[in-house]
Amino acid sequence: MSDRDQSLPSGVERRTFDERERLATQGLPVYGEPTDGDWRVWDAGRSKLGAMLELGMDTGLVGDETVLYLGAASGTTVSHVADFAGPTYAVEFAPRPVRDLVGVAEDRDNLFPLLKDARKPETYAHVVEADVDVLVQDVATRGQARVAARNAQFLRDDGRLLAAIKARSEDVTADPSDVFDDVVDELAEAFEILETTRLDRFHDDHLGVVARPK
Ligand SMILES: C[S@@+](CC[C@H](N)C(=O)[O-])C[C@H]1O[C@@H](n2cnc3c(N)ncnc32)[C@H](O)[C@@H]1O
Repeated sequence: MSDRDQSLPSGVERRTFDERERLATQGLPVYGEPTDGDWRVWDAGRSKLGAMLELGMDTGLVGDETVLYLGAASGTTVSHVADFAGPTYAVEFAPRPVRDLVGVAEDRDNLFPLLKDARKPETYAHVVEADVDVLVQDVATRGQARVAARNAQFLRDDGRLLAAIKARSEDVTADPSDVFDDVVDELAEAFEILETTRLDRFHDDHLGVVARPK
């Protein structure tokens, strides 16, 4: 097993599809991804968390975690998370994608869609259990560091924040490197930053961040 494979959680494997090694999880297909038996491709080109794993970031994921996922959209990535994790709370504030997300959750009894605004954690604090292991964030909105800081309250002491930061959501004109410096500085007020990696191979002008609460 390579170092890259050792950083994959249990339930996520590199498997061969059409002669290419791809990340895959076991579950019902969601977005037309290729399948092989009950394995389905986790397309890193359509998933920032998939890209973070594909690029070998040390996410700390081992499998079976309790997860709070912010910015679930219609469930492309969070469906893979629910395939290998334990209880997975999926927050999304746009009603249309939540309709699809509810359909995805019908096939996964550990996936709980929440039509909520991630900037207002007090509106779902009564639903999400305390001390979650992992906070995944892909909200692609202005104030991404602030959203993460507001939701740090849900994380256990040694839990992990796995965030995808989109430069253009903060400032369309600024140099992405400058935006990332600012966002990471702000994140560092609430979190200890463990690793940052540019995701450009899969997602232009995005930064992957692994951090834990201070
Ligand atoms: C880049 S998309 C997420 C893609 C998704 N994470 C995936 O990989 O399948 C960002 C999503 O965040 C949602 N979003 C933005 N701001 C939000 C907020 N404050 N609360 C909840 N969802 C938010 C948007 O509606 C959008 O669906």
